[in-house]
Amino acid sequence: MQMKTLPGVGIEVSGVDLKHLNKTEDAAIRQAFADQGVIFFRGQTLSEDDHIAFAERFGEINVNRFFAAHPAHPQIAMVAKDVEDRDNIGGGWHTDHSYDVEPALGSVLVARELPDSGGDTRFASMYRAYETLPDALKQEIDGKRAIHSARHIFGKSQTSYYSTSAAGNDKRIGNAAVADTLTDVTHPIVITHPLSGKKALYVNPAFTIGIEGMDEEAGKALLQRLFAHAMNGDHVYQFKWEPGSIAFWDNRSTWHWALNDYHGQRRVMHRITIEGCGLN
Ligand code: SIN
Repeated sequence: MQMKTLPGVGIEVSGVDLKHLNKTEDAAIRQAFADQGVIFFRGQTLSEDDHIAFAERFGEINVNRFFAAHPAHPQIAMVAKDVEDRDNIGGGWHTDHSYDVEPALGSVLVARELPDSGGDTRFASMYRAYETLPDALKQEIDGKRAIHSARHIFGKSQTSYYSTSAAGNDKRIGNAAVADTLTDVTHPIVITHPLSGKKALYVNPAFTIGIEGMDEEAGKALLQRLFAHAMNGDHVYQFKWEPGSIAFWDNRSTWHWALNDYHGQRRVMHRITIEGCGLN
């Protein structure tokens, strides 16, 4: 098995078959996941059952409340854009499920149908984002908690950013009534990753809407400064998908953004999200 560290964030792993991992490979993948935040695999041939089995090595599967499910495998959420769609899913910087009391640990995304060009995904390291914050800003956020919500994204009065397809009138995203019943949650702005022990910035532009104890305007202004810093190109890697590509990311230490630059073409990805971030 070969591992190549990528600029910005992530590691590319080749020479391994995710269907038949030996103990050494499994341990190396776990270590890389904790240290890097995202692993890219090439040349894989996972069936839906293999995809589920790989994800289950890392924790329980979260059956997505808002995305359309794979017709035969409810554990798999469909992340699709068809030829007639203008909007994609995940089309802005975010980390999955930060709006949950116990957010998701990570996600495993398998490429099933790709456009001829475009459709890359950008990833950003929240370890690096935190490490490179100016000391004064680190002090400013020390001990603070941020407010996370799903209602403005998946609820009935959805106001865009993540996907501009209004929930409820798009076959790909639904359950807006459930999103509207979710209570906003708070999480520390800086978390200590339970596996690596490293600090990471844990706010994201899609789901973080304010800072506890600050008025709305001041909270949003502070968040904007953090977001602008975190999306700096030095912390970012743009992954080009190929048939057989898989990305396995850690929602605690990375952001991602699915680029929407392939109108008129079809792109179908299968996503499994894993529970148990261990932050609370
Ligand atoms: C997502 O945000 O989970 C989707 C990422 C992608 O489609 O590249």
